[in-house]
Amino acid sequence: MEKNTMTKARAKKIIFLVVGARPNFMKAAPLIQEMKKDPRFLPLLIHTGQHYDPMMSDSFFRELRLPRPWMYLGVGSGTHAEQTGRIMIEFEKICLAKRPDLVAVVGDVNSTIACALAAVKLNIPVAHVEAGMRSWDRTMPEEINRILTDQISDYLFTSCGDAVRNLVREGIPRSRIFFVGNVMIDTLQKHKALAGNSKILERLGLKRQTRIERYALLTLHRPSNVDDPAVLKAILKAIADLSNKIDVVFPAHPRTIKHIRSLGLEKTVHFMKALPARTPNKSRQNLVTVPPLGYLDFLRLMSRASLVLTDSGGIQEETTILGIPCLTLRENTERPITVKEGTNHLVGNDPERILRTASRVLRSQQFPVKRPRYWDGKAARRIVSVLKARLL
Ligand code: UD1
Repeated sequence: MEKNTMTKARAKKIIFLVVGARPNFMKAAPLIQEMKKDPRFLPLLIHTGQHYDPMMSDSFFRELRLPRPWMYLGVGSGTHAEQTGRIMIEFEKICLAKRPDLVAVVGDVNSTIACALAAVKLNIPVAHVEAGMRSWDRTMPEEINRILTDQISDYLFTSCGDAVRNLVREGIPRSRIFFVGNVMIDTLQKHKALAGNSKILERLGLKRQTRIERYALLTLHRPSNVDDPAVLKAILKAIADLSNKIDVVFPAHPRTIKHIRSLGLEKTVHFMKALPARTPNKSRQNLVTVPPLGYLDFLRLMSRASLVLTDSGGIQEETTILGIPCLTLRENTERPITVKEGTNHLVGNDPERILRTASRVLRSQQFPVKRPRYWDGKAARRIVSVLKARLL
């Protein structure tokens, strides 16, 4: 009887799907939903707890209808070694206890490499979603995470042709690489209409009756931009100058808020601790900084912006699909397709260059954008069909 139950339970393939930091949630959501459609899969969501603030984590679970994690590892913040090490130790324990048939990791955060490394040493196959991206900048922690995760993964799912070529060049056998498209865009397509119900424009005073003001949207959190006070001050000065031409809304990451506070710049960036519940009566500041936003509010803001300025990876892709001009405040990108085929411009963190390019982009007419191949809302479906063919 006991043996029977065991065989029955094992008839389902157990897949650990790992999430940890904010950009993981929108990649995992379509995957778990697609896996759940086949009763032969038992997908279990593992949250490492790398991001733990409600607005960096819980709100995404609610809005993206992610199931409650099967296991929450609660590792929190720390140095890279501390965080990566703690995730490995905790994740290894649950791998040993449950022996999953596959560990699926997404993106390039510390949780990605930590769980992939713990799993592969237990001979558990690893799938990496969003494999093969390279910025060629090894000072970025994410670049190290990407290279290492790809080297130890058994299934490498890529979102563009460049990524396939990068992997082949690094000696990964072609049989492990699958060009499936972009799971983050699956989530965007699914939620775009719903984001139209968000009242974020009204709450920020950017929409009164039917009139929507022109505005730019800023995000900033890379250590190279926010950890060095001189660099952060120079970027914020450029943004303050830009706000004389166009209103700027800045949802700030906790790491950035911490640095803004320690430099005493809260007043300069007009930091609002909380968003007003409804349209404010008094006139708005040209530059407003708000705490991190939920997925739907941010998507609404992004879709109506005249310009987005960012150092995030995913936002470069989302603006490409939305057809919104994007200035990336970095010297390089692991997503060159967004420059070649999309709306992305690399501007680094030099204030002059940021302002010059912003003015040029705001003056120029928008051209129809090309949608990169397979960024069509069906990437998760392609991934799951590969897994069905290989695992079942
Ligand atoms: C991480 C990822 C980065 C990704 C970003 C998205 C790595 C190496 N970096 O960077 O690739 O673009 O997430 O947001 O994995 N903090 C909070 N509350 C939270 C989370 C973080 O206050 O919920 C603060 C802590 O002070 C922490 C700092 O932010 O020390 C940085 O967090 P961490 O997870 O180490 O890296 P991120 O900068 O968020």
